[in-house]
This record gives sequence, structure tokens and C-alpha cells, in this order.
Amino acid sequence: MADLTFNKIAGAALATGLVIFGLQNVTSILFEKEPPAKPGYAIAVAESTGGGEAADVIPDWGTVLPKADVAAGQAVSAKCASCHQFDPAGSNSTGPGLFGVEGRKPGSHAGYSYDQAMEDFAAKHATWTYDELYQFLKSPQGYIPGVKMTFAGLKSSQDRINLIAYLHTLGASLPIPPPNPKAAAPAEGATNAVAGNAAAPSNTAAAGGTAPAAANAVQPTPAPETSRQANAH
Ligand code: HEC
Repeated sequence: MADLTFNKIAGAALATGLVIFGLQNVTSILFEKEPPAKPGYAIAVAESTGGGEAADVIPDWGTVLPKADVAAGQAVSAKCASCHQFDPAGSNSTGPGLFGVEGRKPGSHAGYSYDQAMEDFAAKHATWTYDELYQFLKSPQGYIPGVKMTFAGLKSSQDRINLIAYLHTLGASLPIPPPNPKAAAPAEGATNAVAGNAAAPSNTAAAGGTAPAAANAVQPTPAPETSRQANAH
């Protein structure tokens, strides 16, 4: 009998404890859930797409190239000079001559013997476009695994943009496209926040996918008024 009473009391205490515990959880769920919901998701997207080696926000070339600092790009090219020549004769050294590389078929420079990784890349990419150079120069090994260009890469997106603008002055067979203000909008924000990295999370989050997908998704949309005005001059 005494045992039963004890059991009842203990059971009641346990049940009360459970109810209190349950209520605490319910209230904490109810009250905490609403405010952090959005920032929590944004951070998750930034972490999953922002850290990738090849993933990057491709700028709108028609917007950034005319504004790029060609002299600064030439200064950056000093980092390539131990392996590459930039003269119009297209001399090869450790790496292939880079005069005219923009718009050239990858792995196609006369007199240079490329490795298999570059040959494979060339089989899938008709020319060196701005997009491809931008990603390749960020992380050569990350973008073309096994490539024999043993260069760590240029982390700063502005360095790469300036360098690509400099390469454009060296016999490039690639035109600068007209600006696409719609695609340029995130890049504009990026320049305020110092280089593209800060823009990466918001941009990729907005597009809901990887950076290359974002660039592809934006380009085919019809250009709004402003772009037509810009083209009309
Ligand atoms: C340590 C040497 C080295 C440095 C530094 C270097 N490269 Fe290279 N680069 C190479 C080699 C080697 C290749 C050929 C890779 C292959 O065959 O797989 C190459 C290939 C390339 C290609 C492909 C060319 C083609 O004809 O398809 C480009 C573009 C390029 N480099 C740009 C650059 C730029 C721009 C820099 C400076 C930011 C740079 N490289 C720094 C060694 C280097």
C-alpha cells in the first residue's frame, strides 16, 4: 500500500515534470522560431555555395570590362611572367604564349605541347571566354583538375577582372558584350563591398543555385530599356 502511494506520487511528479518540460519546449519553439528563420537560411546558402573552388559570381562583362583598370591588370600579369610571355609573336616558355588568348581555342597555341587535362578541357570548350578565364584564373587546378599550370590562382575578383581587361588589349578576338544592367546590378553592389566575394552569398541565394547557373539564367532575359538606350548611341 505504501509502495503504491509512493508510486502514485512519483508518477504524478514525473508527469508534472514532463508537462512542464513539454510546455517549455513548445513555448521556446513558438517564440524562437519566427525571428531567426530567414537569416538562418541565408547563411546556409552562403556556406554551401560560397566556399567552392570553382563557384564564383560571374560579373557582367559589358559592365565591368570598360570600367576595369588595365594598368593594374598589367601589374597583376607580372605574376604570370615567370611562365608566360605576352608578346605579339606568341613566344612559348614554361607556359604557352598568351597574346591573343581571349577567344582562342584552349590548348591550341602553335608550338606548345599541352598536357592531357588541357586537351580534355579543350574538347569541351570552343574558346577561352571571359567566364572561363575568370574561373580558371581563380583556381587553375580547381577549374581544370590535373592542369600542369602550377599557379595557386588569383583570389581577388577585381585582380582577375583587371587582368582580363589587360589581356583584352593583347590581340583578343573576343568582343566586349553590351552591358546588361539586369546582370550588372549585383556586381555594382559588389564593388561597394570591395570585390566580388561579398556579393557571392546574396547573388547565389537570389538565384537559388550555383554561380554559373545564375549567370546563365540572367543572360537570356530580354534587356530592359536602359540597355537599349546604351546600345543605341
Ligand atoms: C608556374 C608557371 C605558371 C604561372 C605562374 C602561370 N601559368 Fe598559365 N600556364 C602554365 C602552363 C604550364 C600552362 C599549360 C597547361 C597545360 O598544358 O595543361 C598554362 C596555361 C595557361 C592558359 C591556357 C592557355 C592556352 O593556350 O590554352 C592560360 C589562359 C594561362 N595559363 C594564363 C595564365 C595567367 C593569366 C597567369 C598569371 C595570373 C598564369 N597563367 C600563370 C604555367 C603557368
